[in-house]
Amino acid sequence: MAEIVNVKVGDAPYDVVVEPGLLARVGGDLVSRLGCRGVGVVLDRSIETSVWPVVEASFPPRFSFYRYVLPSGEGNKSLDRVREAYDVFLNARIDRGTPIIALGGGVTGDLAGFVAATVLRGVPLVQIPTTLLAMVDSSVGGKVGVNHGSFKNMVGAFKQPEVVYCDPTVLRSLPQREFCNGLAECIKHAIIRDAPLLAELEENLPRLLDRDIDYLTTFIGRNVATKARVVQSDVFERGERAHLNLGHTFGHAIETVSQHEYAHGEAVSLGICAAAHVAARLGALDEADRRRIVALLGRAGLPTTGLDLDETVLYSAMLHDKKASGGGLKIVIPQGLGAATVREDVSRDLILEAINSLRSE
Ligand SMILES: NC(=O)c1ccc[n+]([C@@H]2O[C@H](COP(=O)([O-])OP(=O)(O)OC[C@H]3O[C@@H](n4cnc5c(N)ncnc54)[C@H](O)[C@@H]3O)[C@@H](O)[C@H]2O)c1
Ligand SMILES: [Zn+2]
Repeated sequence: MAEIVNVKVGDAPYDVVVEPGLLARVGGDLVSRLGCRGVGVVLDRSIETSVWPVVEASFPPRFSFYRYVLPSGEGNKSLDRVREAYDVFLNARIDRGTPIIALGGGVTGDLAGFVAATVLRGVPLVQIPTTLLAMVDSSVGGKVGVNHGSFKNMVGAFKQPEVVYCDPTVLRSLPQREFCNGLAECIKHAIIRDAPLLAELEENLPRLLDRDIDYLTTFIGRNVATKARVVQSDVFERGERAHLNLGHTFGHAIETVSQHEYAHGEAVSLGICAAAHVAARLGALDEADRRRIVALLGRAGLPTTGLDLDETVLYSAMLHDKKASGGGLKIVIPQGLGAATVREDVSRDLILEAINSLRSE
């Protein structure tokens, strides 16, 4: 069983292929699509001995690999690591036709994508995401980049991949915390664009948490399709693509201020709860639907309460985040279930109140 989503951006549409066992034949498929005889690889160190050998064996004999093994963790999404990758690829004398494969989670995909966008002024990029978050979110849509000091994702580019390969069986080895992180983005997709998915999630969450591979395959395909629809309508984020930031303005502040004690999806979960609080206060969301959202996040193993950070410090961090990207504070809120809207008129008091609502339900 395979799901294929064609992402139609610009004049170069690409496929996202979701199929159990795909990694065992990914090399052959890639060679027939791109006709290359060598590839650059940016590879997450934590899967070097588990996933990489499967991918490597799927290529034809005498195929050339130029590998950069990236140490795991958000702290490595940096220009220092980009420079190390440039060294590997330029010393290997790759040419403009040599694709770079990103094999790992969102950290690897974002960094490898940035390298592919910039080395030799751009080489083809192939995404092979190995976390749920990277499959349903970061590998689709073309945003790539790295962090710079306290500025998250502030150095980057738009770089669409040639193809994205998702093999749900690799998710079996993902720690539960990381799996739940990915679910936060899936629940976000349902809230902003796919109300029926919310109901389906409420029913089938146990199958997901058990990593039922068949169900995961359809579920990943559906999330990719939702993200693709949003991205296609607004590739460079001038309008509705911003809806994908639901929970992220609060979330980024929580990540930063907690010094990453909260992982990305965990912070986004709290951020979605805060945004739902704002929406309920502004009359954009029924109280019953707000409770549904909070309950689902909780059942997905994500935090919805218990925040113990100073609200004024968080508010400053939110402003800092926005100042860096230009303009005032824009808050994405659910507009009922299955839709979202961007509000620029949310008062400081209401934002502080929303943060305080995260202390206890
Ligand atoms: N570009 C975008 O549009 C976009 C969207 C959302 C998130 N992001 C970025 O994605 C990053 C988060 O991605 P992530 O959650 O995948 O983090 P990650 O890449 O750090 O991966 C999470 C952890 O899982 C490990 N891992 C990866 N694959 C594994 C596997 N199959 N089995 C066991 N362990 C595995 C990694 O080593 C790491 O420790 C953030 O930097 C965020 O900014 C980007
Ligand atoms: Zn996110």
